[in-house]
Amino acid sequence: MAKVYINEKNKKGHINPELYGNFSEHLGRCIYEGLYVGENSEIPNTNGMRNDVVAALKEMKLPVLRWPGGCFADEYHWKDGIGPKENRKKMINTHWGGVTEDNSFGTHEFFELCEQIGCKTYINGNVGSGTVQEMSEWVEYMTFDGVSPMADLRRKNGREKAWKVDYFGVGNENWGCGGNMTPSYYGNLYRRYQTYVRNYDQKHPIFKVCCGPNAGDTYWTENVLKTCFENAPEWMHGFMDGLSLHYYTLPEDDWSHKGSALDFDDAAWYKTLAKAFKLDELIHKHSTIMDKYDPEKKIGLICDEWGTWYDVEPGTNPGFLYQQSTMRDALVAGLSLNIFNKHCDRVKMANIAQLINVLQAVILTEGPKMLRTPTYHVFHMYKYHQDADLVESYIDGVEQIGEDEKFKVPHLQESASVDKDGVVTITLNNLSIDKAEEVEIAFAECNPKYVSAAILTNDMHAYNTFEDPDKVHEEVFTDYKIENGKIIFTMPACSVVMFRVK
Ligand code: AHR
Repeated sequence: MAKVYINEKNKKGHINPELYGNFSEHLGRCIYEGLYVGENSEIPNTNGMRNDVVAALKEMKLPVLRWPGGCFADEYHWKDGIGPKENRKKMINTHWGGVTEDNSFGTHEFFELCEQIGCKTYINGNVGSGTVQEMSEWVEYMTFDGVSPMADLRRKNGREKAWKVDYFGVGNENWGCGGNMTPSYYGNLYRRYQTYVRNYDQKHPIFKVCCGPNAGDTYWTENVLKTCFENAPEWMHGFMDGLSLHYYTLPEDDWSHKGSALDFDDAAWYKTLAKAFKLDELIHKHSTIMDKYDPEKKIGLICDEWGTWYDVEPGTNPGFLYQQSTMRDALVAGLSLNIFNKHCDRVKMANIAQLINVLQAVILTEGPKMLRTPTYHVFHMYKYHQDADLVESYIDGVEQIGEDEKFKVPHLQESASVDKDGVVTITLNNLSIDKAEEVEIAFAECNPKYVSAAILTNDMHAYNTFEDPDKVHEEVFTDYKIENGKIIFTMPACSVVMFRVK
């Protein structure tokens, strides 16, 4: 039997709701069809935004959305996406399939979408091919309420009041698609560009995100921070509020053969999960470097691209990154979100890539049809952690499982939090393909009276299709007993379980 200990009295930090964020890029069918269908579409919509998708995202309690990229961000010129749609300039989406982007979804549409969902906004600016002036004017356009050329232009385009930009990324992957820069070159550009990301609304300062490393690239982290902190006043914290980290889970290390989303064996299951666990080590590594510059942890690590990346679904456009999502992805989501929770002292936001129809999406669409992926259900089950306090937890009796020595994973993994009403949320993953586990959950003081629970479990290969959209879905879980203040139950193989306890 595995014993899960929860010390709900020992609070370890606050879980920012933004740890449960998503990312939406002008890529494949994420924005167009996935989110935006236009006012004249037969698909039910409000001001062009799909009603079914908006409702599902509200239910999932999506806290923040990043846009417009990704690699697309450093090629995006925001002025092409404002004003009457028929006059908007078209462009080639060079990164993603070479398709024509008609810019019908731009700044106004993004804020409309976030207003409908009720989520915060994370805009990613263009450093790679944009100017300081362009970035500065975008911020003025979005956030200045007085009389100015950009605020007037916004009004002319139909929006009187300034919007609120919660997060602003100064470039994306500038070590790669965002300009192939060296860390010191980017660090200097960051210092310059961010200067003109003005806080017009002093009550709601913009959280500025500096481009951080790819996966294990500590050289980038070290040198960007060194450049940004050099001769900078201490109170400026290297001119940043956050430093990004991108990490994707690929079953194979070969980008031309990453592995299939649906057709995988037991070894690939464990290998994928082991690679997803690497996130823990990476956060630790980069955070240790950040500690040197920022021992008080004022700067957040912003994991604004994470998730699985497989070969595209056979027969689909390779530039559109469309993949299916099975129980394996549910477990990747479950273990990653537990890792983010446990690092909430440093990780202030995380955005899974991507929201709809791209990579580890929470929603897939096919014309008017929509389905929730297994990953969606995990986000939905974990939503109670948002804005709660992480509490001490650990598991006794964890075994390392998996066939290959190099890719072993713990068979169980957990995190726990307590919300403002004193309700403890526990999220547990059983990563084993075939072994159910007897589990006992014990608390420091809590004597569970009010308990509710949910489960997501199925065959390892199970996934939702447009013919059978609810094959994998969250269910109410009642198969537990309470004895001497402990919760005792059998956790099925390949499952995610969530308890709410008071
Ligand atoms: O999410 C797909 C791409 O992955 C993003 O555009 C880029 O930032 C990353 O390389």
